[in-house]
Amino acid sequence: MSLIEVKHITKQYQIPKREEGIIGALKSLFHREYITKIAVDDISFSIEAGEMVGYIGPNGAGKSTTIKMLTGILVPTSGEIRVNGLIPYRERQKNAKQIGVVFGQRIQLWWDLPTIDSFELLKRVYQIPEQRYKMNMEIFTEILGIDEFYQTPVRQLSLGQRMRADIAAALLHDPIILFLDEPTIGLDVVAKEKIRNFIQQINKERGVTVILTTHDMADIEKLTKRMILIDQGRVMYDGELAKIKELYGKNRFLIVDLEVDAKIEVQGAKLIKEEGKRKWIQFDREKISASELIHQLSNRYEIRDLTIEEPEIEDIIRQIYEQGLSI
Ligand SMILES: Nc1ncnc2c1ncn2[C@@H]1O[C@H](COP(=O)(O)OP(=O)(O)OP(=O)(O)O)[C@@H](O)[C@H]1O
Ligand SMILES: [Mg+2]
Repeated sequence: MSLIEVKHITKQYQIPKREEGIIGALKSLFHREYITKIAVDDISFSIEAGEMVGYIGPNGAGKSTTIKMLTGILVPTSGEIRVNGLIPYRERQKNAKQIGVVFGQRIQLWWDLPTIDSFELLKRVYQIPEQRYKMNMEIFTEILGIDEFYQTPVRQLSLGQRMRADIAAALLHDPIILFLDEPTIGLDVVAKEKIRNFIQQINKERGVTVILTTHDMADIEKLTKRMILIDQGRVMYDGELAKIKELYGKNRFLIVDLEVDAKIEVQGAKLIKEEGKRKWIQFDREKISASELIHQLSNRYEIRDLTIEEPEIEDIIRQIYEQGLSI
């Protein structure tokens, strides 16, 4: 059995239907009607111990809902979940001991307490042995620099500091699985890099299994080999990131600067944008090589400069969101 097993789970939310006007409001006081929203629609996957998996999808795809079911906060409408053998919502306490959770959009530490007090409280909640606690705090201090703001109440922490504190807090009790729901949201480049390095280290050195949702494709590129791509509550792709890049990353862009502006015509490629003398040409590297294309152009036009751009994983993912996936 895999460490995490998800079989045909669905989650429906009942949203109260709002009726207009005062009469409508009064009516709904006595007789509420609900609309069913299917947030997760028959999702299955399994994750092995030690894996680091990217759980990706556009806004509203059902990522956070899935994470909440895996952590036991939400009960699936149907389907089965096992996290290291446990049914999360039924054995929430036991499950909490083996997992760490970070919701980038929400603060988990005690708002008014100095940060260090939050850690002390967690130590008690999880009954973390003194020595273990000390050791972990030392490591987190070293890598995440959390000692900088020990005495600061959580409410006064900057976003980057708060995220570092949250991640440290989630790992204090040595969980075997770490759920990270947008751990780099809103952070600057340097802070993002710090967090990424730390996540990587935790996965490599401690063997912690990591499930990561993010809208930042750089997180995915840096951290994960496997990507589960979901949209409208369904799995669209589950596999290697490299494979998707290979399949969808065939398009290249040639950007040329002409000496003199001209109306460009190209065979086997597509002019997609122009700004004066600068032209953007899209081509499929399997249909025409860059050198053929350049040769063709330089025969007809005088070229001052050119560059070739590879598609970013972000472009590829956007393309999949927009046009669907056909593998
Ligand atoms: N508590 C709730 N009550 C009703 N509907 C909800 C609730 N939470 C989420 N939804 C709906 O379920 C769907 C999935 O939401 P979810 O938060 O899982 O998406 P997400 O993939 O995490 O999106 P994002 O990238 O924006 O965080 C959305 O349509 C959302 O509006
Ligand atoms: Mg979310």
